[in-house]
Amino acid sequence: MTKLAIMGAMEEEIEPLLAHFGEAKVTVYADNKYYEVSHNGLDIVIAYSKIGKVFASLTASTMIQKFGCDTLLFSGVAGGINPELKIGDLIIADKLCQHDLDITAFGHPHGYVPGGSVLVDTTKSLRDVAIEVANENGIKVIEGTIATGDQFVHSPERKEFIQKTFNADALEMEGASVAVVCDSLNIPFFVLRAISDTADGGADIDFDEFLKSSAKNSADYLVKIVNKLQK
Ligand code: ADE
Repeated sequence: MTKLAIMGAMEEEIEPLLAHFGEAKVTVYADNKYYEVSHNGLDIVIAYSKIGKVFASLTASTMIQKFGCDTLLFSGVAGGINPELKIGDLIIADKLCQHDLDITAFGHPHGYVPGGSVLVDTTKSLRDVAIEVANENGIKVIEGTIATGDQFVHSPERKEFIQKTFNADALEMEGASVAVVCDSLNIPFFVLRAISDTADGGADIDFDEFLKSSAKNSADYLVKIVNKLQK
């Protein structure tokens, strides 16, 4: 690893990282800000993409193709599906899918388009480091499937559809698009999330209440993982 990309979707998701890594060189590109820092000799580029799959794809490919990042870590919040996941709990995606990608009219499964795959795996060696860090620090984290779509899910019906169709443990709005970009460009990556809500009625209220604290849980753990990756 020579240059690390750390991405979030919202300002709140990267704010704790910027606070931790300190003085950054800011570059504006494609209507977004990229923060470059150096940490114990490692070059890191930090950015939040704005919400949704399109902005996340743009930011991930910019970090890789323009800034030359060769590893990408995503940190942020998600809606919990797996009942074991409570607000604040951490999940690392072992695979991701797009729950709103739908050409089932042509006989294809949900989440599939020709040339792609329903599920994209994250990089096992990065996940292994994350689990090692969790074990060393007594941090509780699960590995599971994260479903991504351009929707803030706040209904039991939609949540159940995503659970049943993809066997997903959590859902959010960027991870799978970042996964497709990194996988296509052969860039090792993972997606880490902390639960902000449970994606049913009241999810909007919980999200507003827990966005900051859950984003910080995810960012704090991510910093520990970065420190381990450097050793
Ligand atoms: N990110 C956090 N909570 C979410 C939800 N309920 N739906 C989509 N993305 C989310």
